[in-house]
Amino acid sequence: MKTLAIEGMQWGDEGKGKVTDFCASHADIVVRSQGGNNAGHSIEHHGVRYALRLLPSGILNPDTVNVIADGVVINPKAMLEELRILSEKGISSYQLLISKRATLLMPYHIEIDKAREEALGDKKIGTTKNGIGPCYEDRASRLSLRVGDLLDIESLQERVESILPLKNLELKAYGGKEFSVEEIMALLLEVREALLPHIIDTTAYLQKALKEGKKILFEGAQGAMLCMTYGTFPFVTSSSPLATAIPNNTGLPLTAVEDVLGIMKAYTTRVGAGPFPTEIDGPLADSIREKGHEFGTVTHRPRRVGWLDLPQLKYVIEISGIKRVALMLLDVLSAVDELKLCTGYFIDGKEIDYMPSTVAELEKVEPQFITMPSWKEDISSIRNYDELPLNCRRYLETIEEKLGVKIAMVSVGPDKEATILREELF
Ligand code: IMP
Repeated sequence: MKTLAIEGMQWGDEGKGKVTDFCASHADIVVRSQGGNNAGHSIEHHGVRYALRLLPSGILNPDTVNVIADGVVINPKAMLEELRILSEKGISSYQLLISKRATLLMPYHIEIDKAREEALGDKKIGTTKNGIGPCYEDRASRLSLRVGDLLDIESLQERVESILPLKNLELKAYGGKEFSVEEIMALLLEVREALLPHIIDTTAYLQKALKEGKKILFEGAQGAMLCMTYGTFPFVTSSSPLATAIPNNTGLPLTAVEDVLGIMKAYTTRVGAGPFPTEIDGPLADSIREKGHEFGTVTHRPRRVGWLDLPQLKYVIEISGIKRVALMLLDVLSAVDELKLCTGYFIDGKEIDYMPSTVAELEKVEPQFITMPSWKEDISSIRNYDELPLNCRRYLETIEEKLGVKIAMVSVGPDKEATILREELF
């Protein structure tokens, strides 16, 4: 297999970082294709933990080419700060290519994001307040600056002069801070020097790499249920984390993605507001949250916790054509008294066979659960599938059977070694 896409199958935070790190060492090129510094994952490399948000996961390996592709929104200051932190930890030799077509995320996007959330009050989306939505909006309304604009200072200045008054109008309406052309230009000129050596036409680069048979890993950010079209709209992000969006975010043909590895947790979590049919609360949720370290990497917010939701996962499997999955954080469920698995959705007493697309309908969903016996043993040192407790294997086999997928990898702890690999991933 020459190319592989990694896709989060729930609401993000599925543990994609560990799997991406696992696969990145086999890749010539690691590509980030959507989202921005709303994403966050930590990876461990030679015993040191690194938190990455915008930078692709191959950045720690000097032989891997890292591509930030066309569909990404880049806060240049945040990206340079990530690079600075890496260099403090001794990582200063890396290969990073940034697309001319990628969108620049500016301070006014962050201000608009914050002001909107505030204005929405208790109807807020619960964004990461990194300006992601307003930035993608500017791209759609053709008011954004692109990385390629940094190449010509004169036209960059003209572009800022035409865009900024419109942004300031909006900020003024919210009573927020307005920006001057000088301020934005100073920021752009400051980051320009550092970014210039990395800026290329990544579309052309990736097309050539594909023809040359290079191994390309498309790393995912966020999760399928945060997709702006297929997720729990409007409580979603402003890009599509689905693997099917990769061609359109990289300039590669449909055939470029040979396989999609879905990443799911052994249970479900989400941060931010919005429907969550299998949500649980109370002491059980607290203990899963503590054990699974379920606090946002970016915002440190406690994550909401719920049982595994098979109808939700089935929906994502169908949309994305997933045949293989990695199941993460299984060890967190050890010693939970009994496990519940959502196997169906009912509305007004009738079973439905589709994923509701409106909040109103999702809120009416009554999940149907089966109860499964749990296991008490600590499984974190097990490396062989057959050595897992019987009830644990039953849980996994029920998931495989009901979802019609193969669990190719099981993660039983945060470390790279705490993994049961049932087949090669990449
Ligand atoms: P935004 O992407 O900052 O606009 O936030 C929109 C929604 O997506 C919020 O519910 C966020 O908590 C959620 N979100 C964005 N990025 C991530 C992520 O990487 N993991 C989990 N949730 C995320």
